[in-house]
Amino acid sequence: MKELTRAINNHLAAEFQASHTYLAMSIWLREKDLVGFSSYMLTKSNEERGHASRMIAYLVDSDQDVELPTIEAPQRDWSSVQALFDDVYDLEKGVTASIHHLYTLAEGLGERSATAMLDWFVSEQLQEEAEARFVCKRLRLAGDNSAALLLLDQQFLEGTALAHVKGGMGGGPQPGEAG
Ligand SMILES: [Fe+2]
Ligand SMILES: [Fe+2]
Repeated sequence: MKELTRAINNHLAAEFQASHTYLAMSIWLREKDLVGFSSYMLTKSNEERGHASRMIAYLVDSDQDVELPTIEAPQRDWSSVQALFDDVYDLEKGVTASIHHLYTLAEGLGERSATAMLDWFVSEQLQEEAEARFVCKRLRLAGDNSAALLLLDQQFLEGTALAHVKGGMGGGPQPGEAG
């Protein structure tokens, strides 16, 4: 197996592991009746599977071998919603580092189709980290205030919680927007 193909296959584990962990988080949040946060994490879980599928399609279309990884059973309990989202942020930073490693490798090898494929992931990770950081900050502001936590949960349910997070790729806040 070529070095880059092996590295992309290794990265698949990070995407599947994130998907699995986010599903476990969605379940934990659902058990706490935080339905907005729970459905957000379920969507994120499905998105991570989509990321893996995207890379698998790239490998197949490039006539490279695909080796699906073993996925470990995820953590299933968190001390607080804050602790859970701190984990989301750490996990996303790990995925970003892995994507950047793939990018550096592909660039060094002059594999242009790989860097073209990875460009999408670089933007996606910027957005994902921005979202995770935003939620962590909101939760810190909420502190021990249940009403503030429930308001944020409601905003996730309505799909407005992250409306202003654009990850630097959407041109930033428009005039009149809170940003
Ligand atoms: Fe991902
Ligand atoms: Fe992600």
